[in-house]
Amino acid sequence: MDTIEGQRTVKATSFREATAEDWEYVTKLGREAIQKNAGRPVIDLLRSQKDVPNHGWQINNYEHSLQCATRALKNGETEEYIVAALLHDLCQDLNPYNHDKLAGDALRYYVSDELHWVVANHQIFQLSFRDHSKFDTKACEKYRGHPYFEAAMRFCEHYDMNCFGKYDYLPLEHFEPMVYRLYEKGVQAFHAKHPY
Ligand SMILES: [Fe+2]
Ligand SMILES: [Fe+2]
Repeated sequence: MDTIEGQRTVKATSFREATAEDWEYVTKLGREAIQKNAGRPVIDLLRSQKDVPNHGWQINNYEHSLQCATRALKNGETEEYIVAALLHDLCQDLNPYNHDKLAGDALRYYVSDELHWVVANHQIFQLSFRDHSKFDTKACEKYRGHPYFEAAMRFCEHYDMNCFGKYDYLPLEHFEPMVYRLYEKGVQAFHAKHPY
């Protein structure tokens, strides 16, 4: 049996050339790699942001993320909530104007539907706290009545808008095992539910 380490490659150079056996083989290898690597891409991406600019705030987005996660941990939130707090701004620099949706997608299948929605919509909810700015602080009112409205507001109030000053946060290494646990569990569940 081939292993990930000693893998052969198929002869096919296109999807249409791939045989049924090729598909079995590449799908198996792909899924083994995804399982083995679960959580690592998001950790690597976050770690790469250690020295991003702070845009005039006292701390940068990396420190903000660790502060949000540390506060969630100290307040006794669940592990998936802590990971969501850690990763909610993961994609800030990929597309600042749509970074909540990107982070939401990075967490999709690994957290609850509620937490996914909260992260995927936090940009509009955190506007509510921008007193003395020209931003539309009432923008999230269009979601009033949504089942996750209050959860999104709570997240932004306790683990986002208040996390821009100096704070004694825990290092990324402290949260890594939580991320791996959550993503490994999510990948297993996804593969069990979607064999193909
Ligand atoms: Fe954000
Ligand atoms: Fe944030």
